[in-house]
Amino acid sequence: MTAISSAVMQPVPAALDVARIRAEFPILKLRVNDKPLIFLDNAASSQMPQPVMARWIRYQSSQHANIHRAVHYLSETATAEYEAARRKLQAFINAGEEREIVFTSGTTESINLVAHGYGRKFIGKDDEIILTTLEHHSNIVPWQMLAGEKGAKIRVVPVNDRGELLLDEYRKLFSAKTKFVGVTQVSNALGTINPVREMIAFAHEHGVPVLVDGAQAAPHLKVDMQALDCDFYAFSGHKLCGPTGVGVLYGKAALLEKMQPFKGGGDMILSVTFEKTTYAPIPAKFEAGTPPIAAAITLGAAVDYLTAIGMDSIARHETDLLDYATDQVNRLPGVRIIGTAEKKAAVLSFAVEGVHPHDVGTLLNEEGVAIRTGHHCAQPVMQRFKVPATSRASFAFYNTMDEVDALVAAIRKVQKIFS
Ligand code: ALA
Repeated sequence: MTAISSAVMQPVPAALDVARIRAEFPILKLRVNDKPLIFLDNAASSQMPQPVMARWIRYQSSQHANIHRAVHYLSETATAEYEAARRKLQAFINAGEEREIVFTSGTTESINLVAHGYGRKFIGKDDEIILTTLEHHSNIVPWQMLAGEKGAKIRVVPVNDRGELLLDEYRKLFSAKTKFVGVTQVSNALGTINPVREMIAFAHEHGVPVLVDGAQAAPHLKVDMQALDCDFYAFSGHKLCGPTGVGVLYGKAALLEKMQPFKGGGDMILSVTFEKTTYAPIPAKFEAGTPPIAAAITLGAAVDYLTAIGMDSIARHETDLLDYATDQVNRLPGVRIIGTAEKKAAVLSFAVEGVHPHDVGTLLNEEGVAIRTGHHCAQPVMQRFKVPATSRASFAFYNTMDEVDALVAAIRKVQKIFS
């Protein structure tokens, strides 16, 4: 009964008007090697629609000055727009308070900020940090650097052959020594959607804070800080149809307040003498120097754009694309999909028998099809699946079923060349 009524309550996300959406992305009209560009490298970076570009131009044309520093019109305008962008990001991820949104240069800096600001203060000798096999290097290396400095240890949650985390093993890793958990919500290499909510709840039962790497989740799923209850969440602007050079660290206010700053400089202080500096309240404490003002404001426009389309509709369309692509690629003899988790988002990693992924990528490019090949900055995933690299197609809401067909036709052509 409950299941039926909740099913009835769930509105079906509206279907996307993909043709109308595509018309707003100038870059999608490009021809590459005399073929229409088919851009399937969205996990690395997504493309920017015209209304978002227009926001950058409007800012630079009529609103730009440095923020938080002067009383003149432009500085006050830029400050107001920058802080308005913070509130847009707060709403986008349903954070409880705007001061819990820290603008950074991207996911990597967000994670490094936590490793330094939290880790160096609260993680010590023989303490343990739990990570997973599915992490991107950006959620491994900062913790290794910290562990090396402090004499702490990294413990790793394994995955099964489908690329799903083994939750029983995760639970077994906890002990009194466990001081931190870092986990990606969506694997950039395989597309696995991890059960982060459950993992966070378990960590909290042990009093352990959790950082979620949301770089591959925020562009594809509706994310909700208050529902997830994670302690930190990191993501990048350029994977969200925004510009490069900006990202977000969400942190619970009580934790951010306890942390030490990562970078020192202007705008993060209350007072400075040569004897002592007192820091500004959060989030300014973590935004030393001139922040990426134009990029943050433009990212605000990007999340407005995505919200207007609807994250549920985006997720539905991308799931359709992934299901169709998975089915089509599965029909190709000699092509193996790597990462077959039950819950996946927007990523299709595969190996073509007898062809090095770099050759796959090069030949697909000749057909105008852009994918990423390599280890995807996730070498432990490659080691787990005993491959040096994969070919990875990754989808966005502006991709079409016809583009999936073109991908499949291009893979067939590669196989023919190598047969
Ligand atoms: N992390 C990005 C990717 O997966 C760059 O391609």
